[in-house]
Amino acid sequence: MKNSEYPQLMQYDFSTIKSFVYNRYGIVLTNEHYAAVSHFINSRLANFSFIIQKYLAFLEKNREEECLFIDAITVCETYFFREEKHFKILEEHVFPYLESLEKKSIVIWSAACSTGEEAISLSTLAHFCLEEKEFSYKVYATDLNERALECFKSGIFTQNSFRSDGESYRFLLNPFLQKHHSHWKLRDEIWRTLYVHPCNLLKDTYSFFPCGFDIVFFRNTMIYFNCETRHKILNKIVDKMNDGAFLFFSSSEVPMVFHPSLKVMEYEGGYFFQKREMEKEKKVQIKKKQIEFDRIRLINTSLSDNKPSKKVDFNDLIDHIVFKKVDWGDQKYNESVFQAMESLKKILKWIDLLSVQNSRFELYDFSRMVKENEIIFHLYGMISMVDNDEGKAMEYFQKALEYNQECWPASFYKAMLMLEKDSIESLHAFKICAEMLRRYIAKGSDKYIFLLAGFDSKYFLDVCEKWINKLTK
Ligand SMILES: C[S@@+](CC[C@H](N)C(=O)[O-])C[C@H]1O[C@@H](n2cnc3c(N)ncnc32)[C@H](O)[C@@H]1O
Repeated sequence: MKNSEYPQLMQYDFSTIKSFVYNRYGIVLTNEHYAAVSHFINSRLANFSFIIQKYLAFLEKNREEECLFIDAITVCETYFFREEKHFKILEEHVFPYLESLEKKSIVIWSAACSTGEEAISLSTLAHFCLEEKEFSYKVYATDLNERALECFKSGIFTQNSFRSDGESYRFLLNPFLQKHHSHWKLRDEIWRTLYVHPCNLLKDTYSFFPCGFDIVFFRNTMIYFNCETRHKILNKIVDKMNDGAFLFFSSSEVPMVFHPSLKVMEYEGGYFFQKREMEKEKKVQIKKKQIEFDRIRLINTSLSDNKPSKKVDFNDLIDHIVFKKVDWGDQKYNESVFQAMESLKKILKWIDLLSVQNSRFELYDFSRMVKENEIIFHLYGMISMVDNDEGKAMEYFQKALEYNQECWPASFYKAMLMLEKDSIESLHAFKICAEMLRRYIAKGSDKYIFLLAGFDSKYFLDVCEKWINKLTK
């Protein structure tokens, strides 16, 4: 039956489905899913003579029907050695690092593996890099979509699983694939190291995993969730990782990742995350910092005479942070600049540690020290974002842009937040941000460098261009 043969769902019914999908799988359906979901649901309603509520109740009890439904609402696009630079990072940096720890085995997880190409790529690369070294490895592959997992287990792949990105690792697949009519079939040896399991990353406890992971690939999936769900899932994944383990997202998703236990790493222009070592020690350190911070606040409050008499100009602050330039003429003013700079560093640290309350306190102090500027609104936006208040975050980023329309960090996160709501608006926002970034880079400006958490502005431009490409398709 063609799409047009079924009437479109009522907006009200689509909203009911959206809440069902969000609560059960964490996926945010947008208006772009409307036509496809309408068609699927109406065909099923006609099949069962159900109304929508009855169909959703039926789904909860009927696994087979739920699998069909999940297949209709998920995007399973994937291919072998996708974003091949990640595999280069594994080969040249991560595997040698893990070997140096004198481990005897490593555990890898492809956390939303779809039809399995990512898990197979990981397994063949591990085979290539580790087999001769008497180093054992296992690759777990999980996904919500059991129909995709069935495809994976059939071991049959079409030409669509091979793209030019990934071509340089194609030679690793050849020993494990045999021609099967116009397709390729996986040889049985590959299954020795692969463990395939259904998993709803939001709802499941992950209890079927035997031990901590050393490498996790969780790529091209965060985009279907909102900030709150990302945060919940990320916490669960990080809990399952060993200290010092590695976590990969697609490069366009990296700026969505905020987690106090993860530090960002860079290797030849590719970004990934490593779980901080010794989590317990870290907690003690955070506690110590908290005590020190409270002490400083106390001193600052008691020395109210020392409060800056003159508000600091933001450009002077930038001169101080970025160019280390100080005009020693006005001692009192320089002290104020110094205090504001220390305060700004603390805000960024608290945001990094996802400590919403502390970062808000500090930002409040900071805003009393400096003349109003776009960075204050941008930072409130960042804090609201880690606090999962997307509406407020959006308002603040907008205010930052009203203050300074060239404030590209605010424009960038505004575009990222829009991804969850409206891809056309988001495409427009990424295009505007990319233009701003090009002007900023052409000027050779470093104005916002302290906000970039170790990334450079070219990286943000690259992410914008990736999203523009994806959303244009
Ligand atoms: C675009 S594919 C990503 C495949 C692969 N990781 C890659 O980068 O090529 C996204 C996958 O996320 C899965 N997914 C969506 N929500 C999920 C959830 N709540 N739990 C587990 N998997 C989920 C979908 O079923 C889909 O297979």
